[in-house]
Amino acid sequence: MARINTAAGNWKMNQQPEEAYKLCSEIENMVKDEVDSSVRTIICPPLVYINPLRRMVSKDSPLKIGAQNSYPEPKGAYTGEVATAMLAEMGVDYVIVGHSERRMLFGEVDDLVKKKVDAVLENGMTPIFCCGEPLEIRDSGKHLEYVSDQISNGVSHLSDNDLQNTLIAYEPIWAIGTGRTASPEQAQEVHKEIRNFISNEKGKEIAANITILYGGSCNAENAPDLFSCEDVDGGLIGGASLKARSFVDIAKSF
Ligand code: PGA
Repeated sequence: MARINTAAGNWKMNQQPEEAYKLCSEIENMVKDEVDSSVRTIICPPLVYINPLRRMVSKDSPLKIGAQNSYPEPKGAYTGEVATAMLAEMGVDYVIVGHSERRMLFGEVDDLVKKKVDAVLENGMTPIFCCGEPLEIRDSGKHLEYVSDQISNGVSHLSDNDLQNTLIAYEPIWAIGTGRTASPEQAQEVHKEIRNFISNEKGKEIAANITILYGGSCNAENAPDLFSCEDVDGGLIGGASLKARSFVDIAKSF
């Protein structure tokens, strides 16, 4: 699979039901009317809205539906969790894995994140694998090693084919929800490092084909500069994905 310009919306734990349905239908209509068909658009609503939104948005719509999380076991005594296989049955196409909020607030460690990546691929969906350093690591100048370690622990074990079917999202934690976006130079530096790391492990061709998204206070104003960086293939968008106009404008920023 070749690199695809992508705008993915991470709604996090936001929207009441009626708001969610309205937002989804507004986004879908605008995407159909305004966004170039070469751009991939994805929304990742809270889990409870996946089924109704899946029914609203047909499988062949240019707007794809993703989940924010899933559990790798196929079934069993895991109160409160949703199996990856269940999402696949519902027609979900993408699953965000290892978001920093899951890692920090819910104690997800590399080993679990890796299992989640595997389960998403085994169930025929595409993982959006998140990585990114906290502020103290950025300040210590060790962010490139830190992110490379996350890539190594989370996706290096994948086959060439599976790796090319995985999206990587670089989301510096200090930029998430803070309004403090990484500069295009800061984003490009890390994206290039991720591609180099994969190139060293798996070869140039695989690395060239991987889609790497930037996330962290990305909005319609800063997206054009970020997306024009050589190794930035789009964004994983939090706050700015909750308004149809701003999300669609971001998807039009390539
Ligand atoms: P933000 O979130 O765009 O609100 O910073 C991005 C994310 O956490 O995926």
